Amino acid sequence: MSHNTISLNKQRQPLDHLESVWLFGYGSLIYKTDFPFLHSKPAYIYGWQRRFWQGSHDHRGTPEAPGRVLTLIESAGARCAGMAYEVTPDTFEHLDHREKNGYLRIFTPLHWLDESGETEGVVYLAGADNEAYLGPASDHDIAAHIARSHGPSGPNSDYVLKLAQALRDMSEHDEHVFAIEKQLLALLS
Ligand code: SIN
Repeated sequence: MSHNTISLNKQRQPLDHLESVWLFGYGSLIYKTDFPFLHSKPAYIYGWQRRFWQGSHDHRGTPEAPGRVLTLIESAGARCAGMAYEVTPDTFEHLDHREKNGYLRIFTPLHWLDESGETEGVVYLAGADNEAYLGPASDHDIAAHIARSHGPSGPNSDYVLKLAQALRDMSEHDEHVFAIEKQLLALLS
């Protein structure tokens, strides 16, 4: 599968018939809200874990030297907390462009973090079959890769540090993110 998913997302999952859509963000969508939204609410999804296994050609790296950003991998019983945003369907013009580097939209149940209920929402997922996928590596190698990468959206390290801070602000612990942050801070110091 090509890593540019703009037209694929449009074809696979038209959203224009809906009045509004809940979008679940687990990575940069938590801390970088460069899109309009009607409401936002902390939420979590089941059965998925964050991993820095996706290459970034367009934000935190370049096609020649991709950075490493998050995707989700399936993991029975896992819980992944993030931020949900209620958006109008036209917002996906911008979101699909922003998330074009290998991410496909899927619908999944979202649970509110305060346990007040649930709804269906859209999540951007970069599967192992996309051309930008990098896959697993040791925490040290992931952190070293991130430490030396940068792209049009800035240093790859900012992606990790801002995300880790945003998770802390939500009182959320993510072992993978915090392990990479720790190695990264050691490398940057
Ligand atoms: C997300 O934040 O939900 C998707 C991955 C990213 O853009 O960092």
